[in-house]
Amino acid sequence: MTQRSTDKIKNRYNRISGVYDSMDKMIKDSWRKDLLKNVTGNVLEVGIGTGANLPFYPPDIHLTGIDFSPGMLNKARMKADTLELPYQISLVEMNAQEMDFPDNTFDYVVATCVFCSVPDPVKGLQEISRVCKPEGEIIMLEHMRSENAVVGKMMDIVNPVTVNTWGANINRRTLENINKAGLSIEEKEDLVFTIFRKLKIKPDK
Ligand SMILES: C[S@@+](CC[C@H](N)C(=O)[O-])C[C@H]1O[C@@H](n2cnc3c(N)ncnc32)[C@H](O)[C@@H]1O
Repeated sequence: MTQRSTDKIKNRYNRISGVYDSMDKMIKDSWRKDLLKNVTGNVLEVGIGTGANLPFYPPDIHLTGIDFSPGMLNKARMKADTLELPYQISLVEMNAQEMDFPDNTFDYVVATCVFCSVPDPVKGLQEISRVCKPEGEIIMLEHMRSENAVVGKMMDIVNPVTVNTWGANINRRTLENINKAGLSIEEKEDLVFTIFRKLKIKPDK
């Protein structure tokens, strides 16, 4: 994946950061709360965006949130300043495909609606596995290409429109990408048919 295609997606998110919160209603708050309720210790959220998950983390964690879009990250900073968060937080501009953290740093790695837009998803998945402790967990809420042949084909047709306006692919084969990255899926729950899923993944150690 070239630097140019990474910059293209980053710029799309910068462009929509001001209106992102009013446009994005894909993930229910109850799904976010349920995903995050048991996280503890040193937690990494990749592609934190405007900080939609911030109200749902339990107390006493240390959260590091990264995003490659300064525009989205500024919105997350503003949210963190207005909410009285019962945990420590650091927000850092960083590419999930090439993170600065040492191996085996985090107890939990969180991603919600991120691997639809990470330009090189397999590289990004390998990186989150690298920085997750061997006994740690990777948890996700992700939309992906439908397993229904007709719906999947329609998603392929519409995909260029969503990538070019928003930056997100609607036809990512995320389960295949997880396998290609060498990770194993421990739990998979279908929240909206086969299109939107909650996943629990073991790092590749
Ligand atoms: C659809 S938004 C989701 C934001 C947030 N996770 C949520 O649940 O609302 C995807 C986010 O992932 C970020 N992102 C995509 N690829 C990335 C990468 N390679 N490194 C860091 N952030 C990335 C985008 O900038 C954007 O903020």
